[in-house]
Amino acid sequence: MEEKPYVFVTRKVPVSSLALLEEIAEVEVWPKEDEPVPYDILKEKAKKATGLFTMLSDRIDAGLLAEAKQLKVVANLAVGFDNIDIEAATEEGVVVCHTPDVLSDTTADLTFALLMAVARRIVEAAEYVKKGDWKNWAPLLLAGHDIHHKTIGIVGMGRIGTAVAKRAKGFDMTVLYHNRKKDYEGERTVGATYVSFDELVSRSDFIVCLAPLTNETINLFTYDTFKQMKESAIVVNVSRGAVIVEEDLEKALENNLIAGAGLDVFKDEPISNGHPLLRFPNVVALPHIGSASKETREEMASLSSQHIINVLKGTKPEAIVND
Ligand code: DGY
Repeated sequence: MEEKPYVFVTRKVPVSSLALLEEIAEVEVWPKEDEPVPYDILKEKAKKATGLFTMLSDRIDAGLLAEAKQLKVVANLAVGFDNIDIEAATEEGVVVCHTPDVLSDTTADLTFALLMAVARRIVEAAEYVKKGDWKNWAPLLLAGHDIHHKTIGIVGMGRIGTAVAKRAKGFDMTVLYHNRKKDYEGERTVGATYVSFDELVSRSDFIVCLAPLTNETINLFTYDTFKQMKESAIVVNVSRGAVIVEEDLEKALENNLIAGAGLDVFKDEPISNGHPLLRFPNVVALPHIGSASKETREEMASLSSQHIINVLKGTKPEAIVND
């Protein structure tokens, strides 16, 4: 009997998502729920793998890819793929897939929840009650900022940005956006207006970063960027931490250049509770849970599995990054 190709899954994923894959491949799943597979072990596994089912926290670099001689496909459980050296994968003939579309609405929900949490001081207010500090009602008790009828500026208007814009429209907001290129087909349907990056940051009440991490977007938000913002502006980042220079954001908050920040992502994840940005009451920090609903994570896992199945069967997967 012919040996089945070996597929390594770097974290526990919903069991049902692996059922079809297990019919055609020998599947090994990294058994530790909360601990990522150490890089050296991943490299060893990759040497004999035909497929890798990876997470955004796994580093798939040129060194690993060069030694993974049988590897045909890497399926990343995320829409972002900055953890993978795409150029090296392409050189080695490895197909890289990701999971767009299925997570757009869920990530947009989280983006909006984060924006609202900072604007209306939801976390501070909930802690205030839990700590027993609520002794009296007062007109300005934990007063925040309005969201409705304000201006939202979306940096990186793709699928998730479009879903955020639709939610913003429900709040009667003015939607500005900035992309590398102006021609964004959703412009008419979501009624968003293209502006330069500088105009976006200076006009918006909410600056929402959804741009992927690339050579062009790394360190995009510097102290100068924050200086251009309104003092009442709130910055929300649900893309990748390194798009913002964290030290500059810290200084901006210290100097009250902006009113707050909602951060689902950080330059080096996970952060510890000693991270300098956590000391600000007007910062709401989350552990990179943009797409983390049970339904969406199941869909993402099934899609990743399907990508690997397609490559193993010689058919083209839907969401190839390095086509
Ligand atoms: C992704 O899929 O890239 C998101 O960051 C997950 O939340």
